Amino acid sequence: MQGQRILLIVGGGIAAYKACELIRLLRKAGASVRCVLTAGGAHFVTPMTLAALSENPVYTSLWDLKDETEMGHIQLSREADLVVVCPATADLMAKMAAGIADDLATTLLLATDKRVLAVPAMNVRMWLHEATRRNVKRLRDDGVEVIEPDEGEMACGEYGPGRLPEPEAVVAAIRKILPGTGSGTAGEAGGGGAGTHALPAAPPRAFGARSPSPKGEDLSGRHLLITAGPTHEPIDPVRVIANRSSGKQGFAIAEALAELGARVTLVAGPVALPTPVGVHRVDVETAEQMQAAVDAALPADAAVLVAAVADWRVDPAASKLKKADGPPQLAWRENPDILAGLARSHLRPKLLIGFAAETGNVVEIAREKRLRKGCDWILANDVSGEVMGGDLNSIHLITAEGVEHWAEAPKADVARRLARRIADALA
Ligand code: CTP
Repeated sequence: MQGQRILLIVGGGIAAYKACELIRLLRKAGASVRCVLTAGGAHFVTPMTLAALSENPVYTSLWDLKDETEMGHIQLSREADLVVVCPATADLMAKMAAGIADDLATTLLLATDKRVLAVPAMNVRMWLHEATRRNVKRLRDDGVEVIEPDEGEMACGEYGPGRLPEPEAVVAAIRKILPGTGSGTAGEAGGGGAGTHALPAAPPRAFGARSPSPKGEDLSGRHLLITAGPTHEPIDPVRVIANRSSGKQGFAIAEALAELGARVTLVAGPVALPTPVGVHRVDVETAEQMQAAVDAALPADAAVLVAAVADWRVDPAASKLKKADGPPQLAWRENPDILAGLARSHLRPKLLIGFAAETGNVVEIAREKRLRKGCDWILANDVSGEVMGGDLNSIHLITAEGVEHWAEAPKADVARRLARRIADALA
């Protein structure tokens, strides 16, 4: 990031303190930072702190004549290589979306011809509010990069999405945007001086001049729900009914969707797989727990139910069944059909996708299953070979329009192909 110039707008919120660490990391990576502090932001961090960390003057007012003679606000907004708003409050993003310019920060944001990255932080209800959803969508349509907030416990005591991402994640997002600074760029250690400003390798894309993403390549702002892996249905405290699902295909799909910018909730049965980067994982064991986790994750724009859910459960014995008592009589009960239930739900995702693992007559059975379960697409595969637990999969995609046969490919490739199809369908 050597020589890159960041204009950092610090909005008002408890997360403003993380802006201090962000400045430190950016300077360590070789960037120079100029800060603009909003009136709200000044309640949480002082201009003195930001000035000391950035080793640059801090700008707070549109009406400061001294600042205006030294550097006009238009110049300030144009001299940067990237404008970063961190934390971006609900109020600040609403003003940005509406084009309001009633203080220095919002005036700069309207005057800039540079890329803008907004890092939101707010209460979970504010983040999920229709008005904020609308504003985020409008900003993204306008070409502003709005990264997803973290999910977790908030300063206000509530839980959910809205926490400011860690400064390291913000630096990673900045690297993705600034030309020539992607992760792995050599020669970035240390430094910290503003020095000479290296010219970016390619002109940055300006706010308001977003090149339209190719159809089907962008899932930002979408919530995708995935189920994956087997379920385990307990028989007694030590035994379960299980199946051979490895979870690999579902995890690969979650990863591919996150790569296209979606917010992904992955409800995972018992599997020993790492959580894909950027994916929110909810671990469950039984079909009933999976059902509850799916319900809690709604609403979603699309859902892909890959899990091999046990169709049956038994009422588990309270203590270990003993061999001496002879073969147990298990009283079977039917588990909820999560896919069929979701298809009937008033929160049915716009695009609902199921899987069908069959051992013969694959396409015929899957066609019938699509209609019976009420989903839009079924991905059918023949699991009589090595598919379960293996790394390859060959898929028949069954939709209302017909059947597509996908050649055998690694599960990661199948996942990426499906993710692009989903993005296309939701575009
Ligand atoms: N599924 C589900 N809940 C269940 C069973 C299945 O959500 N209790 C979903 C799976 O995740 C998959 C699809 O339904 O997306 C098809 O699963 P499958 O086991 O093939 O369907 P079944 O209804 O169990 O049919 P079969 O009699 O062939 O086992």
